[in-house]
Formats: sequence, C-alpha cells, structure tokens
Amino acid sequence: MEAVEIADGIYWVGALDWNARNFHGFATLRGTSYNAYLILDEKNVLIDCVKMPFLGEMMARIRSVIDPKEIDLIVSNHAEGDHASGLPMTQHITGADVLSTKKGAEALRLNYGEMRISEVKEGEDLSIGERTLRFIETPMVHWPESMFTYVVEDQVLFSMDAFGQHYCSSQRFDDQVEKGILMEEAATYYANIVLPFGSQVKKAYEKVKGLPIKMLATSHGLIWRTHINDIVEAYLNWADGRTEERVLVIYDTMWGSTERMALAIAEGVRSQDVPVTLMRLTDTDRSMVLREVLRSRVVAVGSCTMNNGMFPTVADITTYMRGLRPKGRKAAVFGSYGWGGGASKAIRENLTAGGFELPYPDLDIRYAPMKEGVEKCIAMGVDIAKSIKS
Ligand code: FEO
Repeated sequence: MEAVEIADGIYWVGALDWNARNFHGFATLRGTSYNAYLILDEKNVLIDCVKMPFLGEMMARIRSVIDPKEIDLIVSNHAEGDHASGLPMTQHITGADVLSTKKGAEALRLNYGEMRISEVKEGEDLSIGERTLRFIETPMVHWPESMFTYVVEDQVLFSMDAFGQHYCSSQRFDDQVEKGILMEEAATYYANIVLPFGSQVKKAYEKVKGLPIKMLATSHGLIWRTHINDIVEAYLNWADGRTEERVLVIYDTMWGSTERMALAIAEGVRSQDVPVTLMRLTDTDRSMVLREVLRSRVVAVGSCTMNNGMFPTVADITTYMRGLRPKGRKAAVFGSYGWGGGASKAIRENLTAGGFELPYPDLDIRYAPMKEGVEKCIAMGVDIAKSIKS
C-alpha cells in the first residue's frame, strides 16, 4: 500500500474503509476513509491517525515513504475513535510524542489510556524545519477538544472532520470525482454530524478566513483543492440555517391511512409549484432524511398513533432531529388515530425541543382519510407551500 504525495513532502497515509455501512448510526453507503497525513521535514510529523483496525494499512503507507520510527511528532487534531483509537499503538511503534489541545490530552487519556502528550495552545506556531505548523482550536467541530492544523508555508489546512465526507474513493482529490456526488456526501455528513454546531462552525471560519488556503485536507473522504470556495460557502449557508423553498414530508403508517394523508399533503404542496420530497421512514435511513431536512424549509411529520404515542420509526427520527437541532425551519404535524390519539402531541414535543417553529395546526384524522379528510390534507399542503413561497 502506497502513500500519495498531495504536496511537496506531504503525503496522505490514511486508510480506506470501503465496506463501512454504519458510522455510529449514520448510513455510509459509499464507505468512508480515515485520512492521516505525513509531513517530511527536519522533524517528521504524522497528522492524525486512523481507527485501530486500519492501523496496519496506515503503517504500510507510511513505510512506503519512511520507517515509522523516523516520525518525531504525532498531531492529534481530534480524539474520536475513528482518528485516534490507533494512536496508542502508533506511539508505541514510532516512539513519537503526541501533540493535542489541553482538552484533547484529557479526552485521549480518558479514551485510550496513558500516553505521552504535549499540549499546544490556540494560535501557537511550531517550527518543524522548513515548515511551520499553526494550531487553531475549533471547539465542537466536532468535539470540545478539536483543532485544525495549518501548514503556513504550504498553505494546507488539516481540517479534521470539518468539510469531510463519508465517501471512500480510490481518488484523493475533489476534482477527481463527480462534483454532484461529492457535494451530496458533504451535505449528508454536515446534516448528520455538524448540524448542531453551526455557531461553532462560524467561529472556526472567522479564525481561518484570512489564511491563504491551497488545500483543505479533511479527515474523511476527498481533499479539497479545486472546489474550496464551494464547500466553504456551503458550510456557511448550512451554519446560517439557510434552506431552499421546498418541503419534506416524512411519515410512517400501519394500515395506509397516514400514508394517504402524506400523499395528499405532498399533492397540495406540489399544486403550488413548490418542490416536495416524500419519505416513508420504514424504508429510509435516518441519515438520508437529515440530508433532506438540511435543505428543506418545512418538514411535515406524520405518524399513526400506536400505543398512545408515535410509531417507533417516527419516535426515532424526531428524537434524532431533537438532538441535531436544525435551526430556521418550520414543521407541520399530521397523522391518523383510532381512539385515544397521542402521536401528534409527542411529535410536536420533540420538534419543538429540536428548534422547529410549528405555525400550522396539527391535522389528526380518526381512522382513514375519506374524501373530506383527503381535502383537508391537500389544503394543509397548499397552506404550507403558500407560507414559504416568495
Ligand atoms: Fe471523524 Fe468526529 O470523528
């Protein structure tokens, strides 16, 4: 396994996880990569590491360039297991010191045991010979301990999780793959990982916006060198909660009543020339739903009542959204019930806690929607569409 030189003396030495299909609950249908980088200078530096099962792959790539024992320093930008679980063994093999933020040192020790770690400070510069490494703390992008590392002379920003994608490819750069797929995977990643941290994304941007950047070397997926402006602009839009004039209808159903309601609501939206996406939750992974939530101005959530509450898949997605806290979006609630009801109230609670505005009256229909019920659903779709049409 070979390293890939991405700039003069800077190598990608990461690992490709072609078969990853679930990343802590996030469906990764295109796999992922754990990107580590090697900088050759008077001091040889490894930037980040890989998930423990992929340590052999990383070491083989390092060995294609130098003996791992020649590594002097390991920069840990992020202590999460996909980048740092291989760190203790890497330190054992290389004998190198680990550099991290103060919180990073704590997280590394609490996760992986005692290690030799030197702490770096916000904005600190470290000369490694011809090059200077600058450390930039980026708390909550993605964990409290996270940081970027910037190579001043090469204008390469090692951005850790930020700008990443769960996208395994034999290619290494953004301009070597289909841009639409790349941006879609970056959006899916943002929606499922970074979404709660929009204000922290903007703070991180403020710290680096004045730096010349030739390359955004992320910890997952493709390295940005051609479409840097596009991904940074997308991040700022997502961080601001900007959405498209479009509606997402998500639902689940036991005997088809709530499904008929969902279809009629979508029909009402479409009648106003507003784009709408419909997803049945039994058939759709939650990470795909969140990618649609990211771009949608209204999310209509429907559930049949089951045991006085939400259908389990609806409970799952609304709890997931509650945690991810999308900002700047409206939501509508609908569903069918047989006797006591209860789903709409539970959905409303989760959506409110998740930061959605709920300006539309809930639409509950007892048993199946007959002609009058279908008309009410279409009217609800029309109202939703009109409320967001410019
Ligand atoms: Fe790729 Fe937050 O770890």
